[in-house]
Amino acid sequence: MAPKRFFIYTVGCQMNILDSELAAAALAQAGYQPLKSAKGADIILFNTCSVREHAEEKIYSALGRLKHWKDSRPEGIVGVMGCMAQKDRETVLKRAPHVDLVIGPGQIDRLPHLIAEIHKNQTPRIAVSADRFHSGSETGSVRESFRRYDPIRLPEFRPSRYQAMVRIMFGCDKFCSYCIVPKTRGPEQSRPADDIVREIKTLADSGCREVMLLGQTVNSYCWKDAAGTVTMADLLERINGIAGIERIRFVSSYPTAMTDTLLEAVRDLEHVMPYLHVPAQHGADSVLKRMRRRYTAAQYRELVERIYQTIPGAAITSDFIVGFCGETEEEFEQTVELVRWARFKNSFIFKYSQRPGTYAAKHYDDDVKESEKRRRNNALLDVQNAISAEQSARFVGQTVEVLVEGPSKTAKKGVLPLVGASSCQTQLTGRTPCDRIVVFDGPTSLTGTLARVRITESAPFTLFGSLQSDS
Ligand code: 5AD
Ligand code: SF4
Repeated sequence: MAPKRFFIYTVGCQMNILDSELAAAALAQAGYQPLKSAKGADIILFNTCSVREHAEEKIYSALGRLKHWKDSRPEGIVGVMGCMAQKDRETVLKRAPHVDLVIGPGQIDRLPHLIAEIHKNQTPRIAVSADRFHSGSETGSVRESFRRYDPIRLPEFRPSRYQAMVRIMFGCDKFCSYCIVPKTRGPEQSRPADDIVREIKTLADSGCREVMLLGQTVNSYCWKDAAGTVTMADLLERINGIAGIERIRFVSSYPTAMTDTLLEAVRDLEHVMPYLHVPAQHGADSVLKRMRRRYTAAQYRELVERIYQTIPGAAITSDFIVGFCGETEEEFEQTVELVRWARFKNSFIFKYSQRPGTYAAKHYDDDVKESEKRRRNNALLDVQNAISAEQSARFVGQTVEVLVEGPSKTAKKGVLPLVGASSCQTQLTGRTPCDRIVVFDGPTSLTGTLARVRITESAPFTLFGSLQSDS
């Protein structure tokens, strides 16, 4: 029998992109064949996001469109995984009765097994548990449940052979009033440091040069066992020593967990990049309080100063929510002021989207009009874009070290052979230590290596340059 073919459609954050990669690798290892689109698939999976309503509605309409596919192909499997599956559970089946499988983010390692069961007509429909302590049938102690998280890493499913995301913790305990994540991803739990180091060594052995460590509040990573306590700074030190790993980043950091020791580790460890994503969410104390963030705007500013003072040339990025419940024009202006002051490399700006089941949905009115949310979003974006452009422009004339990611997506198709060069010259992209995208011409053989590029031009989010001959 021909192998069953699967396609995973992914929306949402880096956690989801990683989950889809791991799910694909697990399915491929179980004998299923991956596809790049849904065309010709026997199994279509949706990896979903619940952070904003829009992301959910997109999935429900895509599921609706699959009704026809399923009618004409009863043996086909439609699965919904990720945060929306976790949150909506039976509702997914009510709204889309043709769905065969609803599976929470903590259960993805069981995917091949569950799909095999469906093929045998045992029709498992819902497998959700936000809690990794009680992950479905095989319950174990904390340590046992973590030992089981030993994902299959196949280079062909990574964003690129040279880059990988690595989960170092699960869940979140912060319960910010607007956020559904603690409910969909469960309680905060760090992975054993030894497991993380082992996974990264395996990645390095298969060609990975850059790792992005993932956690909802990644800088509060802490693993304790009989041998002692491993903090985020300790973990970075261990990963820094892994042969082959050139670059280490971590996202997302919670402002109050950024200790001096961690900042010094970022400064001192050769392979840890001077890039920190530290979402502020808002610039007004009154709103931060309603959001149940555990710091004031002044404390956030103190952190920004501490980062710039400790790590020369550090790039900071942030997230902001505009139009949160009761946000006045004056409060919004305080966010604008913070963005002007902090000189972020970039900010991700979101319009508040009420999420049923959160503290804010229960206690506050979602009373800022959609048109006003949009206006504030655009206004803040304009301020940030101008700052991003200024920050980028400072690089013109400098030579930066770039980890080459490969041909740029917009690269011209017909590549020109360089006279005397060992391989073809094309438009390449890569990133600086502080995560700025650099576009330059060079041989594709540079992919996965560090190159020196002299910056000649800049745009808000891209630098352009020419390869230095010593690369
Ligand atoms: N509405 C809008 N944005 C949200 N975020 C989280 N929850 C919501 C919500 N209900 C944003 C926060 C977070 C980012 C990942 O998504 O800014 O940092
Ligand atoms: Fe959501 Fe707050 Fe946890 Fe981030 S820290 S995942 S915003 S609850």
